[in-house]
Amino acid sequence: MKYVSLLATCLMIFSTAFSQSTKAKDLVKKMTQEEKVNLVVGMGMNIPGKMENGTAVGQISDKVAGAAGETFAIPRLGLPNTVVADGPAGLRIEPKRKNDPNTYYATAWPIASLLASTWDTELVQQVGEAMGNEVKEYGVDVLLGPGMNIHRNPLGGRNFEYYSEDPLVSGKMAVAMVNGIESNGVGTSIKHFAANNQETHRNSVNTIASERALREIYLRPFEIAVKEAQPWTVMSSYNLINGTFTSESRDLLTTILRKEWGFKGLVMTDWFGGKDAVAQLKAGNDLLMPGTPGQKKAITEALSNGSLDINTLNESAVRIVDYIINTQAFKKYAFSNKPDLKAHALLARQAAADGMVLLKNNSALPLHGSAGTIAAFGNTSYDFISGGTGSGDVNEAYTISLVDGLTNAGFIIDKELSSLYSTYVTAEKAKQPKKTFFEEFANPTPRIPELDIDHNLMERKANEASVALITIGRNAGEGSDRKVENDFNLKASEVALIDAVSKAFHAKGKKVIVIINSGGVIEVSSWQDKADALLLSWQPGLEAGNAVADVLSGKVNPSGRLATTFPVKYSDVASSKSFPGKEFPGKEETGMLGMKVMPAEVTYNEGIYVGYRYFNSFGVKPAYAFGYGLSYTRFNYSALKLSSSTFAGKLTASVIVTNSGSVAGKEVVQLYITASKGKLDKPSLELKAFTKTRVLQPGQSQTVSFTINGTDLASFDTGRSAWMADAGKYSVKIGASSEDIKLAADFGVAKEIVTQRVNKALLPQVSINEEKPLVY
Ligand code: BGC
Repeated sequence: MKYVSLLATCLMIFSTAFSQSTKAKDLVKKMTQEEKVNLVVGMGMNIPGKMENGTAVGQISDKVAGAAGETFAIPRLGLPNTVVADGPAGLRIEPKRKNDPNTYYATAWPIASLLASTWDTELVQQVGEAMGNEVKEYGVDVLLGPGMNIHRNPLGGRNFEYYSEDPLVSGKMAVAMVNGIESNGVGTSIKHFAANNQETHRNSVNTIASERALREIYLRPFEIAVKEAQPWTVMSSYNLINGTFTSESRDLLTTILRKEWGFKGLVMTDWFGGKDAVAQLKAGNDLLMPGTPGQKKAITEALSNGSLDINTLNESAVRIVDYIINTQAFKKYAFSNKPDLKAHALLARQAAADGMVLLKNNSALPLHGSAGTIAAFGNTSYDFISGGTGSGDVNEAYTISLVDGLTNAGFIIDKELSSLYSTYVTAEKAKQPKKTFFEEFANPTPRIPELDIDHNLMERKANEASVALITIGRNAGEGSDRKVENDFNLKASEVALIDAVSKAFHAKGKKVIVIINSGGVIEVSSWQDKADALLLSWQPGLEAGNAVADVLSGKVNPSGRLATTFPVKYSDVASSKSFPGKEFPGKEETGMLGMKVMPAEVTYNEGIYVGYRYFNSFGVKPAYAFGYGLSYTRFNYSALKLSSSTFAGKLTASVIVTNSGSVAGKEVVQLYITASKGKLDKPSLELKAFTKTRVLQPGQSQTVSFTINGTDLASFDTGRSAWMADAGKYSVKIGASSEDIKLAADFGVAKEIVTQRVNKALLPQVSINEEKPLVY
């Protein structure tokens, strides 16, 4: 029975794909050359004052105000414009339109780094379903997300748009998100393919990396997403890999993405990405976004002088038509412009609370309803940050601040501080210059300085209030990377505030709780002793304050775990020596929108030793390890069982997790493998599977099981261009973090296994001196 229905499904999928392809091919056959050229070049972007050779860059119809781009319509063939819009934390469109009393707000969901910290793929899929519903109901065809680059370095300006330092977590989160969004019949664009892990010189930086580091760390999440979720589209990135722009790399877009991984959809460029439209088409980059008249001219000229084969153009045109006929625009879906924002806000709140990570808790949390008055310090307590900046920023209707969330939950907030801070924050913000998106992009406005609280007021508050909260806020985004000083490291004014609050409140025997409202990692080691509890709220979306209050009050027992390491200091990070690379002044060229771009390069000398793979293998102690997070309860791990002590293509591991504390809670169970030490150097351990338990009541247990297959044991052998696992002894390690291994069991691999042979591709043009752990 099962077999029959599986066969039927396969036939159905096959016949849909087949008929669409035939239909697309037939439509392309009916097109003129000019129509095909128009189709592979987007409709441009309306940027005030930006012209190319006297022609306005944008010709878009503005079907959905604030969307990032459109594809060309060919009405005589029934092909409409389709609309693509950002981004990873929710749909980015203009909330208000000229002469229109309606509003078009979208939900600002928790940022990707928070969603990854839930380690809950079912929840992320639900978020995707709701996010995709907004895409559909606002008349958009493709959401430009999820972002899934690796957190190579904590200063990465767009880390908030990305999930993790680990390829498995990033890949699995993206699978859940793509499946959720696309279940609505709208598309996604997984981005930015690939090795786009910094914003410094993002349009010109050449990423120099070994084949192994690329395959195991930087391509792997995309491989998982493509193989397991088959997204409608992939967005190539701005950077070069080993000397070639990704959007012009046939190795990347055709050999690896299509031939090896079986990607069926279309590839679009990042906005104005790459240089050579013809090279992009030849590489397999089908759609040039947002599209410029110059690109059309270059393609047309190349067709007439024979340097571009018409079949190459046809192939891309077929893929684009294939996509168009799947869209809601083609199906003439009557979108409502009225998604259920209230229901989505509830889900955003739940997801936000589930991804917050309790880093430290010296009996300060949960706060009880009878906590008395809370003294809330730090500008950010009153001006909470829902998400990052740039194209990943969502235009939501509101953001609940921390103090509003606490008030909603019935806590009493100190009124004097509240009015002082609110007045200050409003006045300082009013002084900030009003900038357009592009001005802000080029020159981000710094956050307002911390309000200075005088000594007497501090003393008085320590007497009157029962507990102190301090919020440290950080924001970043597209266009620039973060800095070490005054960003990764706290500012002197923030250290002074934490110090003063801590002295005054501790002198009265009262607790101090610090909330980190940031899109990325910050330094905590030098000051965290002054706090009794540390909650990493990330940037939690529009319901921010309510979700933080849920965790602080214990309504939600924190179950978030770090998917990115918190180092003790910046220089402890493996890539700190090479990030953000070298630049070549004096060699500037004219790039995107006539802007000057300076050639630059960055060498990934740490190879595969990124994040915990580095900290654990090189014996560098982090402040908080990958996978770490506290709960208000405790979990006990027992009875680890392997299905066999020898590997025969597959192995199952099961373990019992018991809530041994006194309140209900969920645990993230992590399976790491320590591989046999053979031909290739290996990290001391690598995450190979994870799951989250259901809510376990005190005393309740759950058996969780994992399947390990050959791919999970394999590493990339550059010499053979193959994924292989050495023969020898392997250990399964079940942990509550990459450092906190609870149980381990060994199994053997009798003979070397080669799981897959691949092509030689993306070869470095120079030799890379990669660091290896001492043990090798
Ligand atoms: C960003 C992309 C985004 C695109 C469209 C680019 O600047 O890098 O992530 O999807 O703009 O807004």
